[in-house]
Amino acid sequence: MSRILTGIQSTGTPHLGNILGAIIPAIKMANGSQNESYLFIADMHSITQIKDPKELKFNTYSTAACWLAFGLDYSKTVFYRQSDVPQVTELSWYLNCYFPYQRLTLAHSFKDKADSLEDVNAGLFTYPMLMAADILLYDADIVPVGKDQLQHIEITRNVAGRFNNLNGNTLIIPESKINESTMLINGTDGNKMSKSKNNVINIFLEETLLKKQISGIKTDSLPLEASKDWKNCNLFNMYKLLADENQIEIMKKNYEQGGYGYGHAKNDMLNLILTRYSVEREKYTYYMNNLDEIDSILKNGAELASKTANTVLNRVRLKVGFN
Ligand code: TYM
Repeated sequence: MSRILTGIQSTGTPHLGNILGAIIPAIKMANGSQNESYLFIADMHSITQIKDPKELKFNTYSTAACWLAFGLDYSKTVFYRQSDVPQVTELSWYLNCYFPYQRLTLAHSFKDKADSLEDVNAGLFTYPMLMAADILLYDADIVPVGKDQLQHIEITRNVAGRFNNLNGNTLIIPESKINESTMLINGTDGNKMSKSKNNVINIFLEETLLKKQISGIKTDSLPLEASKDWKNCNLFNMYKLLADENQIEIMKKNYEQGGYGYGHAKNDMLNLILTRYSVEREKYTYYMNNLDEIDSILKNGAELASKTANTVLNRVRLKVGFN
């Protein structure tokens, strides 16, 4: 029996990269009978960026609705909001005190964010310690994530190892789990899909807005009649992630034979998302219209999560000398 754990920040509605890179693989693992799972909404991490409480609350609901729309089974999974189990901040403090400052300065994600964001706060800098606490507080064995989180998992392993070396075995050292084909999904501009880069596809958008996002996918400017190179086309690569083999073959042929423009391909992409995710879109809308259901599901999850959190935290407190 392995314990799976992963989180999604509530900095916006989860995009296609979050869904393919983390949400679908995590739910698949969570539904496996051999596993136990903790899936959560990382709203405390989100306040490093989101300072408007209404926006934060909306994003938290929409992240929850996305997990539920993709089939998270809350009767089997401990599904909770990070801020409902504030014990995580206590563990995060201990971890901060066991990890060298110099090592934190090497975190890529902080460097990227410090270069692109205006609000470079101390929370952004110590972000990996809160993430390590998220994982270690629940004795997680396996953490399914996209490629951009691998360094954070390495930091988690490192700080847990340091703590254990000084205090004897206390914390479980987790493993990351990535999926080669979906660990790095590109956005509409061909760079890694990311909320902060404004290049996302949000599959839950209303049709006209979704169409607008899809029409923003960058392509070359070959005319309608020209034969096109699907191998190096960002639009085709995105389509391929969602389409079945037959649909992929048809699009390849269309590209090669010409008479098929990028406008056609974008239209096919829109229809593919609308049909492939019709059930998820409906479920998402259902939950966003029934927020009290989300509240009650998360409340129940927080109670379960707290129990595990208290057990692990007591183990750590004892080792630190606070018993
Ligand atoms: P976040 O919210 O940025 O992303 C959530 C998950 O989605 C993956 N992801 C992607 N995968 C493939 N292609 C992409 N373009 C792409 N963009 C994002 C991320 O790798 C991640 O798995 N720090 C985390 C949230 C977190 C967490 C945790 C995760 C907080 N505590 C504990 C695991 C365990 C984050 O910012 O993810």
